[in-house]
Amino acid sequence: MALVTFSNPDFKDKTVYAVAGSHTETLLKLAKENKIPVQFDCQDGECGHCLVRVTSIDEKDRMGYFLTDKEQTVLKELGKLTQDQIDQLHVDDMPSEWRLACQMIVRDEDILVEY
Ligand code: FES
Repeated sequence: MALVTFSNPDFKDKTVYAVAGSHTETLLKLAKENKIPVQFDCQDGECGHCLVRVTSIDEKDRMGYFLTDKEQTVLKELGKLTQDQIDQLHVDDMPSEWRLACQMIVRDEDILVEY
């Protein structure tokens, strides 16, 4: 069970439980289920509207994560990641802080999601 806290300066923070066992639930799906107004459009990792910043609020180390090619492309277009940073994330096996909510699968870790 993961605790996901959604935060936006225009809204009250909201913390929800995520059942992280299925490895299929995206952050966007979780937000929609909980009526959290994360913006979105394509829901397919192409438009970049669902850009969020994700940080761990867990005692544990971050879990490794590999960005899909689609997500890398959009994050580069949005100016959130450079190719050098992407290469380094691969070497370190660390997730990027910037993510697309429609592409990010919720894992078993407590996170803060700024949208
Ligand atoms: Fe378009 Fe996520 S909704 S990239």
